[in-house]
Amino acid sequence: MYVCLCKAVTDQDIRRAVARGARTFEAVQAQTGCSTCCGCCEGEARELAEVAVASERRAAALPVAA
Ligand code: FES
Repeated sequence: MYVCLCKAVTDQDIRRAVARGARTFEAVQAQTGCSTCCGCCEGEARELAEVAVASERRAAALPVAA
């Protein structure tokens, strides 16, 4: 699903940016260009990035099964 129409950024692009190490909205913006034009998408994009970062942190905290 497109989140940012100006820059053609999808929800998957945001999750991919977080998986590649982005831990702030600004880092997601740097990787994707999301919310760098009209700004209409910023609220939804920030929320998606925050959820993705929280998910990455939870996954990193889980013990690895032997
Ligand atoms: S819709 Fe994302 S900057 Fe315009």
